[in-house]
Amino acid sequence: MTTNEPSRTQWLGRWGFVLAATGSAVGLGNIWKFPYMTGEYGGGAFVLVYLACILCVGVPIMMTEIALGRRGRGSPIDAIRRVVTESGRSSGWSLLGWMAMLCGFMILSFYVVVAGWSFAYLWKMVSGGLAGSSVDDMAAIFGANNANPFTLGAWSTLVTVATMVIVGKGVQQGIERSVGWMMPGMVVMLLVMIIYGMFSGGFGQAVNFLFAFNASSLSSEGMLAAMGHAFFTLSLASGAILTYGSYLPRRASIGRTTLTVAIADTLVALMAGLAIFPVIFANGMEPNSGPGLIFMSLPLAFQAMPLGTLFGILFFIMLSMAALTSSISMVEATVSWLADNKGVSRKAAAWGTGIVLWVISTLAMLSFNVGADWTLAGKHFFDWLDYLTSRLMMPLGGLGMALLAGFVLKSQAVKDELNLPAGIYALWLFMVRYVSPLAILVIFVDALGLVAVDFGAHWLWLVLILLVLTLAGELVSPRLRRSLQTSD
Ligand code: TRP
Repeated sequence: MTTNEPSRTQWLGRWGFVLAATGSAVGLGNIWKFPYMTGEYGGGAFVLVYLACILCVGVPIMMTEIALGRRGRGSPIDAIRRVVTESGRSSGWSLLGWMAMLCGFMILSFYVVVAGWSFAYLWKMVSGGLAGSSVDDMAAIFGANNANPFTLGAWSTLVTVATMVIVGKGVQQGIERSVGWMMPGMVVMLLVMIIYGMFSGGFGQAVNFLFAFNASSLSSEGMLAAMGHAFFTLSLASGAILTYGSYLPRRASIGRTTLTVAIADTLVALMAGLAIFPVIFANGMEPNSGPGLIFMSLPLAFQAMPLGTLFGILFFIMLSMAALTSSISMVEATVSWLADNKGVSRKAAAWGTGIVLWVISTLAMLSFNVGADWTLAGKHFFDWLDYLTSRLMMPLGGLGMALLAGFVLKSQAVKDELNLPAGIYALWLFMVRYVSPLAILVIFVDALGLVAVDFGAHWLWLVLILLVLTLAGELVSPRLRRSLQTSD
């Protein structure tokens, strides 16, 4: 495949892919969702399960996606079609690419609304709109922010336009350039916030909360949430990483790059916790306030602190940048697919996508005001987008990619592209063949509500025993030994 490989743009700099993929991974998921989930699911034990999910499922699937993208040199649909053709398998697998692309698009449709909150709160901080508010005022402000479809819509429109401007400029001039300054900027701001947290008086309590392991706070619901979040936070199974991988130069090591991105993503999530919880604890607030944590509790806490407004502004700039570097990755699959297949320029593709996105995200935004009672089975449109993508499409896509790379493609092609030392390759293979599919099946069973009994933490043991048995079987099976030999 190296000889007649279709020519494709590549990242300019050595760090192009790492910065862009980290930009995609680090987003609202890290700074908004992870801290409040940790708060809701009881702290350290949840963090530990989450780390295990990242390592055992997230990393192997991310490697798979990058390999698929680089080998197929295209957006998900084209790349998957090429790799299955190369291996002489059914092109029906390209449906997986369609689902991934659609999934990225659907996530973005509600993501721009939440990113819009971040921009709105940045503006509130700058203009002093939050000064002197009480707990009740904060809730009222959050409510009022959502109640007016015109202002709420204006903020999400702003995010949509910014996203399309960057993506329209291209992979190197748009994406690579913008992440090149936004990512370092974000990390600096986060470090400043942590130092601020250290002096706030709540730091020890925050560290304790995040890292103390308390097994009794671990619920099976928390474990499933950790698994789902591992997919979301690494931007998996939605075309983003696969498409970014299609621009990765051949000489780059997929294993090392993936680890770098996963570690950076995890560090930012933990750092966000270390920036947010000290401020919350220093003001005697509770960590379990849910999705409102950074929009209600945090601004309230900032106000009570010296230089609070300044740090509040810094916080929301950081959050807005993190959101933007993620949103550009979610449409890249669609834009690249249109530009490659439909004979339109990249700019036209970006604006075309932007218009459709705007319509759908507007519908999602209306769920918070005029459309509050347009519900189906108790969920409004915004919730449906979230539910369908996080609970069904991402796990299903991840399962598909794992099975595709683990069982369907010629192992020689996969091995070539991953180019890992034999032992690591065997480990990867074991993860995508058994560990990830099994873990994902558990999410499904839960999402579809097929099992009404609550196994508590016991199913974890069951899974562990099954895995050990499979590993033992696999190690002695001739099949694995054969597939480890280079001649296939
Ligand atoms: N990973 C991002 C976050 O944590 C969200 C994200 C960006 C994403 N691109 C994605 C999620 C693609 C799923 C698919 O906020």
